Amino acid sequence: MKNLTVIDHPLIRRDVSILRDKKTPNHLFRTVLSRIAGMMAFEVTNDFAMVEYSLQTPMEKTKGYRLKEQIVIVPVLRAGLGMVEGFLNVLPEARVGHVGLYRDEETLEPVDYYSKFPKTLSNSLVLLIDPMLATGGSAKAALTFLKQRQARNIRLVCLVASPPGIKIVQKHHPDVPIYCAVVDRGLNSNGYIVPGLGDAGDRTFGTE
Ligand code: PRP
Ligand code: URA
Repeated sequence: MKNLTVIDHPLIRRDVSILRDKKTPNHLFRTVLSRIAGMMAFEVTNDFAMVEYSLQTPMEKTKGYRLKEQIVIVPVLRAGLGMVEGFLNVLPEARVGHVGLYRDEETLEPVDYYSKFPKTLSNSLVLLIDPMLATGGSAKAALTFLKQRQARNIRLVCLVASPPGIKIVQKHHPDVPIYCAVVDRGLNSNGYIVPGLGDAGDRTFGTE
Protein backbone atom coordinates (compact mmCIF):
# COMPACT_ATOMS: atom_id res chain seq x y z
CA MET A 1 0.00 0.00 0.00
CA LYS A 2 1.13 3.53 -0.81
CA ASN A 3 3.16 5.21 1.89
CA LEU A 4 2.84 2.25 4.27
CA THR A 5 5.80 0.38 5.73
CA VAL A 6 5.07 -2.73 7.78
CA ILE A 7 8.10 -3.39 9.94
CA ASP A 8 8.09 -7.17 10.07
CA HIS A 9 10.92 -8.61 12.16
CA PRO A 10 11.01 -11.81 14.25
CA LEU A 11 11.74 -9.93 17.48
CA ILE A 12 8.89 -7.49 16.82
CA ARG A 13 6.48 -10.35 15.99
CA ARG A 14 7.42 -12.06 19.24
CA ASP A 15 6.86 -8.84 21.20
CA VAL A 16 3.53 -8.03 19.52
CA SER A 17 2.37 -11.51 20.60
CA ILE A 18 3.26 -10.69 24.22
CA LEU A 19 1.26 -7.45 23.99
CA ARG A 20 -1.73 -9.21 22.43
CA ASP A 21 -1.91 -11.78 25.25
CA LYS A 22 -4.56 -10.67 27.73
CA LYS A 23 -2.64 -12.42 30.52
CA THR A 24 0.33 -10.02 30.09
CA PRO A 25 0.49 -7.82 33.21
CA ASN A 26 0.70 -4.03 32.96
CA HIS A 27 4.38 -3.82 33.93
CA LEU A 28 5.40 -6.28 31.20
CA PHE A 29 3.10 -4.55 28.69
CA ARG A 30 4.95 -1.27 29.34
CA THR A 31 8.39 -2.88 29.05
CA VAL A 32 7.58 -4.66 25.81
CA LEU A 33 5.82 -1.66 24.21
CA SER A 34 8.90 0.44 24.86
CA ARG A 35 11.20 -2.31 23.50
CA ILE A 36 9.21 -2.60 20.25
CA ALA A 37 9.27 1.18 19.84
CA GLY A 38 13.08 1.10 20.03
CA MET A 39 13.26 -1.60 17.36
CA MET A 40 10.79 0.24 15.11
CA ALA A 41 12.87 3.40 15.46
CA PHE A 42 15.67 1.76 13.45
CA GLU A 43 13.44 1.29 10.39
CA VAL A 44 11.63 4.61 10.75
CA THR A 45 14.96 6.46 10.76
CA ASN A 46 16.84 4.40 8.19
CA ASP A 47 16.73 7.07 5.45
CA PHE A 48 17.47 10.04 7.73
CA ALA A 49 19.87 12.52 6.14
CA MET A 50 23.29 12.89 7.74
CA VAL A 51 25.85 15.66 7.96
CA GLU A 52 29.50 14.76 7.75
CA TYR A 53 32.02 16.38 10.10
CA SER A 54 35.61 15.94 10.99
CA LEU A 55 36.67 14.42 14.31
CA GLN A 56 39.82 13.27 16.00
CA THR A 57 40.02 9.69 17.32
CA PRO A 58 42.83 8.88 19.78
CA MET A 59 44.76 7.73 16.65
CA GLU A 60 44.03 10.21 13.83
CA LYS A 61 41.53 12.46 12.13
CA THR A 62 38.47 10.82 10.55
CA LYS A 63 34.94 11.53 9.36
CA GLY A 64 31.99 11.53 11.74
CA TYR A 65 28.28 11.82 11.04
CA ARG A 66 25.39 13.48 12.77
CA LEU A 67 21.67 13.65 11.95
CA LYS A 68 20.86 16.57 9.65
CA GLU A 69 17.28 17.19 10.76
CA GLN A 70 16.03 18.26 14.15
CA ILE A 71 13.71 15.53 15.37
CA VAL A 72 10.53 16.06 17.35
CA ILE A 73 8.76 13.04 18.79
CA VAL A 74 5.05 13.64 19.44
CA PRO A 75 3.22 10.95 21.41
CA VAL A 76 -0.58 10.97 21.35
CA LEU A 77 -1.63 10.85 25.02
CA ARG A 78 -2.01 8.59 26.71
CA ALA A 79 -0.97 5.41 24.94
CA GLY A 80 1.73 7.06 22.82
CA LEU A 81 3.67 7.82 26.00
CA GLY A 82 4.51 4.13 26.22
CA MET A 83 6.61 4.42 23.04
CA VAL A 84 8.54 7.60 23.89
CA GLU A 85 11.36 6.07 25.91
CA GLY A 86 12.06 3.45 23.23
CA PHE A 87 12.47 6.23 20.65
CA LEU A 88 14.49 8.49 22.93
CA ASN A 89 16.92 5.66 23.70
CA VAL A 90 18.08 5.76 20.09
CA LEU A 91 17.25 9.43 19.36
CA PRO A 92 18.46 11.16 22.53
CA GLU A 93 18.82 14.46 20.64
CA ALA A 94 15.08 14.58 19.86
CA ARG A 95 12.67 17.02 21.48
CA VAL A 96 9.28 15.82 22.65
CA GLY A 97 5.91 17.49 22.02
CA HIS A 98 2.61 16.18 23.36
CA VAL A 99 -0.89 16.03 21.99
CA GLY A 100 -3.74 14.84 24.20
CA LEU A 101 -6.68 13.17 22.44
CA TYR A 102 -9.24 10.67 23.58
CA ARG A 103 -11.93 8.92 21.61
CA ASP A 104 -15.45 9.73 22.71
CA GLU A 105 -16.76 6.27 23.55
CA GLU A 106 -20.16 6.88 21.92
CA THR A 107 -19.27 8.81 18.78
CA LEU A 108 -15.69 7.42 18.45
CA GLU A 109 -14.72 11.01 17.48
CA PRO A 110 -11.41 12.31 18.86
CA VAL A 111 -11.58 15.04 21.53
CA ASP A 112 -8.45 17.13 22.13
CA TYR A 113 -7.60 18.22 25.66
CA TYR A 114 -3.90 19.14 25.71
CA SER A 115 -1.02 20.15 23.48
CA LYS A 116 2.50 21.47 23.97
CA PHE A 117 5.11 21.54 21.22
CA PRO A 118 8.69 22.76 20.87
CA LYS A 119 9.07 26.01 18.89
CA THR A 120 11.13 24.17 16.25
CA LEU A 121 8.14 22.19 14.92
CA SER A 122 8.07 23.92 11.51
CA ASN A 123 11.65 23.00 10.58
CA SER A 124 11.83 19.61 12.26
CA LEU A 125 11.16 16.07 11.18
CA VAL A 126 8.18 15.08 13.34
CA LEU A 127 7.47 11.51 14.43
CA LEU A 128 3.85 11.19 15.58
CA ILE A 129 3.61 8.06 17.72
CA ASP A 130 0.55 6.15 18.93
CA PRO A 131 0.35 2.36 19.30
CA MET A 132 -3.16 2.05 17.85
CA LEU A 133 -4.47 3.20 14.44
CA ALA A 134 -8.09 2.01 14.68
CA THR A 135 -10.79 4.12 12.96
CA GLY A 136 -8.03 6.60 12.13
CA GLY A 137 -9.95 9.50 13.69
CA SER A 138 -7.28 10.25 16.30
CA ALA A 139 -4.38 10.09 13.85
CA LYS A 140 -6.24 12.23 11.31
CA ALA A 141 -6.97 14.86 13.99
CA ALA A 142 -3.44 14.76 15.44
CA LEU A 143 -1.90 15.21 11.98
CA THR A 144 -4.21 18.16 11.23
CA PHE A 145 -3.27 19.64 14.61
CA LEU A 146 0.45 19.34 13.82
CA LYS A 147 0.02 20.85 10.35
CA GLN A 148 -1.94 23.80 11.80
CA ARG A 149 1.16 24.38 13.93
CA GLN A 150 3.32 24.46 10.79
CA ALA A 151 4.73 20.92 10.96
CA ARG A 152 5.65 20.04 7.37
CA ASN A 153 7.63 16.83 7.50
CA ILE A 154 5.72 14.22 9.50
CA ARG A 155 5.86 10.42 9.82
CA LEU A 156 3.18 8.45 11.64
CA VAL A 157 4.40 5.50 13.70
CA CYS A 158 1.90 3.08 15.17
CA LEU A 159 2.13 -0.48 16.34
CA VAL A 160 -1.13 -2.12 15.29
CA ALA A 161 -3.00 -0.64 12.33
CA SER A 162 -6.42 -1.46 10.87
CA PRO A 163 -7.16 -1.27 7.13
CA PRO A 164 -9.84 1.46 7.58
CA GLY A 165 -7.49 3.53 9.79
CA ILE A 166 -4.75 3.32 7.18
CA LYS A 167 -7.23 4.37 4.46
CA ILE A 168 -8.39 7.43 6.41
CA VAL A 169 -4.84 8.66 6.99
CA GLN A 170 -3.87 8.02 3.36
CA LYS A 171 -6.96 9.91 2.16
CA HIS A 172 -6.62 12.97 4.41
CA HIS A 173 -2.83 13.09 4.80
CA PRO A 174 -1.35 11.50 1.66
CA ASP A 175 1.97 13.23 2.35
CA VAL A 176 2.49 11.36 5.64
CA PRO A 177 4.29 8.00 5.53
CA ILE A 178 2.82 5.41 7.90
CA TYR A 179 4.96 2.86 9.74
CA CYS A 180 3.43 0.00 11.71
CA ALA A 181 4.45 -3.41 13.05
CA VAL A 182 1.32 -5.23 11.93
CA VAL A 183 -1.92 -4.66 9.99
CA ASP A 184 -4.80 -6.46 11.71
CA ARG A 185 -8.00 -7.86 10.23
CA GLY A 186 -10.35 -4.99 11.07
CA LEU A 187 -12.50 -3.30 13.70
CA ASN A 188 -15.29 -4.61 15.93
CA SER A 189 -18.60 -2.79 16.44
CA ASN A 190 -17.02 -0.66 19.22
CA GLY A 191 -14.21 0.49 16.96
CA TYR A 192 -11.60 -1.76 18.59
CA ILE A 193 -8.97 -3.43 16.45
CA VAL A 194 -9.38 -7.22 16.09
CA PRO A 195 -7.56 -9.33 16.99
CA GLY A 196 -5.70 -6.26 18.34
CA LEU A 197 -4.43 -5.99 21.89
CA GLY A 198 -7.32 -4.23 23.62
CA ASP A 199 -7.12 -0.71 24.99
CA ALA A 200 -3.46 0.25 24.78
CA GLY A 201 -3.76 3.23 27.16
CA ASP A 202 -5.57 1.20 29.81
CA ARG A 203 -3.12 -1.71 29.53
CA THR A 204 -0.12 0.64 29.73
CA PHE A 205 -1.35 2.48 32.79
CA GLY A 206 -3.41 -0.22 34.55
CA THR A 207 -6.74 1.60 34.20
CA GLU A 208 -8.69 -1.24 32.59
C1 PRP B 1 -6.48 5.08 21.64
C2 PRP B 1 -5.18 5.05 20.88
C3 PRP B 1 -5.41 6.06 19.80
C4 PRP B 1 -6.88 5.90 19.52
C5 PRP B 1 -7.02 5.12 18.25
O1 PRP B 1 -6.54 6.15 22.50
O2 PRP B 1 -4.06 5.31 21.67
O3 PRP B 1 -5.10 7.38 20.17
O4 PRP B 1 -7.44 5.18 20.60
O5 PRP B 1 -8.35 5.03 17.89
P1 PRP B 1 -8.92 5.70 16.56
O6 PRP B 1 -7.97 5.36 15.47
O7 PRP B 1 -10.25 5.02 16.39
O8 PRP B 1 -9.08 7.15 16.79
P2 PRP B 1 -7.79 6.34 23.50
O9 PRP B 1 -8.84 7.19 22.88
O10 PRP B 1 -8.22 5.00 24.00
O11 PRP B 1 -7.17 7.22 24.67
P3 PRP B 1 -6.11 6.79 25.79
O12 PRP B 1 -4.79 6.54 25.09
O13 PRP B 1 -6.06 7.96 26.69
O14 PRP B 1 -6.62 5.54 26.47
N1 URA C 1 -7.78 2.24 20.94
C1 URA C 1 -7.14 1.21 21.52
O1 URA C 1 -6.40 1.40 22.50
N2 URA C 1 -7.32 -0.02 21.03
C2 URA C 1 -8.09 -0.26 19.98
O2 URA C 1 -8.23 -1.43 19.56
C3 URA C 1 -8.77 0.82 19.37
C4 URA C 1 -8.57 2.07 19.86
